[in-house]
Amino acid sequence: MPDSAGREGIGAFGRRARLGVNIDHVATLRNARGVAYPDPVRAALLAIAAGADGITAHLREDRRHIRDGDITRLMAAIDRPLNFEMAVTDEMIAIAIANRPHAACLVPERREEVTTEGGLDVAGQANRVRDAVARLGDAGIRVSLFIDPEPVQVEAATRVGAPVVELHTGAYCEMVEVGDEAGAARELARLAASAKESHTAGIEVHAGHGITFASVGPVAAIPEFAELNIGHFLVGEAVFQGLGGAIAEMLCQMELARLAGGVGGAGR
Ligand code: PXP
Repeated sequence: MPDSAGREGIGAFGRRARLGVNIDHVATLRNARGVAYPDPVRAALLAIAAGADGITAHLREDRRHIRDGDITRLMAAIDRPLNFEMAVTDEMIAIAIANRPHAACLVPERREEVTTEGGLDVAGQANRVRDAVARLGDAGIRVSLFIDPEPVQVEAATRVGAPVVELHTGAYCEMVEVGDEAGAARELARLAASAKESHTAGIEVHAGHGITFASVGPVAAIPEFAELNIGHFLVGEAVFQGLGGAIAEMLCQMELARLAGGVGGAGR
């Protein structure tokens, strides 16, 4: 069955999940010097040439990495879906509607955080999120909600009418990084349970945050995940093996994980 972007063969229960490459931190490097390079749009084109299924970019309120002009240029330059990560604010909703990306992922945002530290509390602000989902959906934008893998958030996402959720993999990846096997198994089980619950509710399920070569396998093996969004690690790894090489290796690991786990996924 074709996926939401009309492509065959990958997605939930497919040969592998789609890979969305987040190019925010190419812009972080550019902004560190206040010059025009490295250009995140050039990185997006390279990522697509290397096999990325889509590009993800987060326009933060403080514009610390991606800027408004980058979104406009990405929309003009790339021929794969753009997943626009954004806070649930009137300013960001207006920018999304003006640019009409393929998808918008609603994330929580606090200026003082280093990165998006937790999922969106959909349950605690259901009316606000429902309104944003409707406004973006009316503009033809496929909305996903970035949530922690908790039943209360999956239920709330269903209630507000979101077509997609992205499960926050940060806690799982952190456990892998510190070598806490029991913690990693616990977090992976939460991800698998929420993926199943979302899929059963008719919601497309994505995952992302903090994924590296060390953590991608078990996440990619979860068969309900139609898409993984990965950024910081790939941009860092590009220093050592180039962006194309890092993406090729990530795609390979994602596909191997599904093969090794079978259609039912590893350990399920
Ligand atoms: N998905 C979402 C919703 C995010 O906010 C981010 C970080 O911007 C990512 C995926 C990618 O995370 P990372 O850069 O850690 O791979």
